[in-house]
Amino acid sequence: MVACMATLILSLSGCHSLQQSEDATIIPQPLSVEKGNGSFSFSEKTVIAVADNEQRIIAENFASLFTKPAGFTPKVEMVKDGDIVFAIDKSMKSDAYELHITSDKVSIKAADAKGFFYALQNIRLMLPPTIEGQEQVENAWKVPAVVIKDEPRFDYRGFMLDVSRYFLPKEDVIRMIDCISMLKINRLHLHLTDDNGWRLEIKKYPRLTEVGAWKVDRQNLPFPDRRNPKKGEPATVGGFYTQKDMKEIIRYAAERQVEIIPEIDIPAHSNAALASYPEYACPVVKDFIGVLPGLGGKNAEVIFCAGNDKTFDFLQGVLDEVIALFPSRYINLGGDEATKTNWKKCPLCQARIHKEHLADEEALQGYFMSRIGDYVRSKGKQIMGWDELTNSKLPEESIILGWQGYGKAALKAAEQGHRFIMAPARVAYLIRYQGPQWFEPVTYFGNNTLKDLFNYEPVQSDWKPEYESLLMGVQACMWTEFCNVPEDVFYMTFPRLAALAEIAWVQKGKKDWNEFLKGVDNFNKHLEQKGIIYARSMYNIQHEVTSEESGKLKVKLECERPDVEIRYTLDGTEPVETSALYDSAFVVDRDAEIKAATFVKGIQMGKTLNLPIHWNMATAKPIIGASKEMGILVNGLRGSLKQSDFEWYTGGLSKPISFVVDLLKPQQIKRVTVGCITNYGMAVHKPRMIKIEASDDNKTFKEVGRLTFTDNEIFKEGNFIEDLSVETDDIIGHYVKFTLETPGNCPNDHVRPGQASRVYIDEVIIE
Ligand code: ACM
Ligand code: ZN
Repeated sequence: MVACMATLILSLSGCHSLQQSEDATIIPQPLSVEKGNGSFSFSEKTVIAVADNEQRIIAENFASLFTKPAGFTPKVEMVKDGDIVFAIDKSMKSDAYELHITSDKVSIKAADAKGFFYALQNIRLMLPPTIEGQEQVENAWKVPAVVIKDEPRFDYRGFMLDVSRYFLPKEDVIRMIDCISMLKINRLHLHLTDDNGWRLEIKKYPRLTEVGAWKVDRQNLPFPDRRNPKKGEPATVGGFYTQKDMKEIIRYAAERQVEIIPEIDIPAHSNAALASYPEYACPVVKDFIGVLPGLGGKNAEVIFCAGNDKTFDFLQGVLDEVIALFPSRYINLGGDEATKTNWKKCPLCQARIHKEHLADEEALQGYFMSRIGDYVRSKGKQIMGWDELTNSKLPEESIILGWQGYGKAALKAAEQGHRFIMAPARVAYLIRYQGPQWFEPVTYFGNNTLKDLFNYEPVQSDWKPEYESLLMGVQACMWTEFCNVPEDVFYMTFPRLAALAEIAWVQKGKKDWNEFLKGVDNFNKHLEQKGIIYARSMYNIQHEVTSEESGKLKVKLECERPDVEIRYTLDGTEPVETSALYDSAFVVDRDAEIKAATFVKGIQMGKTLNLPIHWNMATAKPIIGASKEMGILVNGLRGSLKQSDFEWYTGGLSKPISFVVDLLKPQQIKRVTVGCITNYGMAVHKPRMIKIEASDDNKTFKEVGRLTFTDNEIFKEGNFIEDLSVETDDIIGHYVKFTLETPGNCPNDHVRPGQASRVYIDEVIIE
């Protein structure tokens, strides 16, 4: 049904025979949509009748969308009747609304401003996307007649933005708020403080932004590769929001039904604060504390001293201003990833443990969070924190964000009657790759594609019934380690945040991937008109090349959009709309230059995938005793500079890698090569030793060569691939055994001092 995968707009101009579902381009999907006849047109005569100031602001913001692109602005008047009317119905739930559009009237019923705002966002999404533009355009500014009845599944529909690691300027935060409000996201959790920057003016402690908002410039390197600052080195990268800026952001957000929840992350992730006021770190920290441009190594262990009462006075002073500034009833106190090395060594912290009869440093964190939490609660706010808070006594009435893995740790809080929010890293961390990695900018970890996030269901079948009633909602988190410009943040956020909105809004079991994609297409058009950069990763192809049967490789190509055609070539020519249509996996048994891309109606939608398959004696040969994933070592295809691209094999931490390639018959061998990747910041390094042995019977092996490397040769900086070859003197072998030793822990001058390194290999080549 590609011809009418059109939006409502197109449906007005000739696709009337479409099923109602074909027209549903609003995301999140409303609860019910009933299509009417005709359409409602906006003009300079259109009057939006409002009853109070709150409605007036919402209506004026909506009307102002028309000013530039349409060349007119619908009127907003405090009158009883108009072309667009709002009716308050207190029997309805907050957030819920009913939208009736006929050819001559728009009526909206809701309990409060939220419902009115969401109904208007639907109208916005049904208007031509040029409504977002700044240029006047000829358009029929109309929306189809429809009755929409709608309410959300969850009250909490959250988005977390890390403005610490990358300072997103105020103007871009404001643009972001407008975009997320179109999706009916209603909480923006601002991660305002971390090791990499303090972003909020605190008048009582000016050094927090004079010092804490600025880091040294290492932007030429990926985040994990960046070395710590040297004492006296100029810190030039960063920025902060003044309290006046923040008030502007809060007001802008409130007008769009978005509540800003501030996070002041304690007791760890606090280098920026402690670079500004080192007296509140444990006194055992002797090294210079600077704002970290990257991971920080041992400096990431810097932590607020829990034994020093002045630490609490300081944090209370900070929180006094935060509490006064943010109208939200919630303050997030972080609490994540607190390494307790310094607390273990600190005499003040140890004295605190003794005096308060605490079991250990973990219990000390419980004490720390509860003491600050009690203070915040005494000021009438509720506290939130990450799921590490469940490792010790939970602060009273705290609300927990489940982030680790699939967020399960939050259930420990639910078990104690605490409310919680699901923000699982495994699906809802937008820092992860959003599509086939070969096409994506470098970032951390594995993939969280649009579909991965869309498919997430927070309420699991093994949950106790009471958990569900304590679940407030869901949140996506945009960590910004790899962002250097505002466009990077928007690219990683959209369109995936639409999938989070869908989970948060649509009732359980009612999501529909195909319908959702139509909504995403329409939403993306609106973003485009706003000049927002979003990702088109959903159109790219993920490949899988496996050794299917001896001597042959199976090539599988996959795109998460079901409405595209995959076209491919085998001879290195560019795929076009008439190239071979991919319908199922195919086999190759020799060198091939496979190229593939997705098409809709003859137009290429995604980037071209290049799969150069190069045959050698090991290609498509059995690996004896291998796990399935080892097949990538002999699939004729080389991994990229990303060791997580599914083309690299790792034995894991500290484990040697060992396997035997069966050449199926005795072969003359002159060289054996192992491809190895170095990714310094991720502690991925080449092996300490590679040993190659040959055998006729897979029982008795004879060493035919080995390579060994020193620390200097292993722990090199950068991101590169090396082919490590052993010349084997033309020996005859039927079986070739590989043994690779990991290099062990990273040395002290590494960005990950003392951490275990990993070896990743691809491909093994026998010539
Ligand atoms: C987190 O990702 N450290 C909350
Ligand atoms: Zn201490």
